[in-house]
Amino acid sequence: MSGEAHVDIACRVNGEEIVDRVPARLSLVDFLRHRLGLTGTHVGCEHGVCGACTIVLDGRCVRGCLLLAAQADGAEIETIEEASRSGRLDALKDAFVARAALQCGFCTPGMLLTSAELLADMPAPDRAEIRAALSGNYCRCTGYHAIVDAVEAAAGLKT
Ligand code: FES
Ligand code: FES
Repeated sequence: MSGEAHVDIACRVNGEEIVDRVPARLSLVDFLRHRLGLTGTHVGCEHGVCGACTIVLDGRCVRGCLLLAAQADGAEIETIEEASRSGRLDALKDAFVARAALQCGFCTPGMLLTSAELLADMPAPDRAEIRAALSGNYCRCTGYHAIVDAVEAAAGLKT
């Protein structure tokens, strides 16, 4: 019996061209964390429920645990590292700090990326819309109220 199958991929991750040969069954989140060292993307449930592994693929938030690295061939990926470095999360990050919307921080990268997508799609969401948008992101520290406060503040709806 031969060894595990591998796949050649080429993608852009945080603006950098990546060419690699990956195990066919390697998840995208494990590729980002273990092969590229981008550990800001977290792994929680590993089956698409908690949102800890949220990344941006071709402009939309996706779950890195539900995709294979092989499926990223040809894709443009942004992780929390670049999203943070770019400044596009600054308003949200400031609001999360001001509202104490993080405790252990495990869910925070996914919360920030998902919230940024919400505010790009819907600049003035109400609290129900914020809760709906974040309903796929679990906070084990249960700081949901403060997180909704922070997103609302970042949207300029609350000072
Ligand atoms: Fe991917 Fe939970 S680790 S959704
Ligand atoms: Fe701990 Fe959300 S701040 S999981």
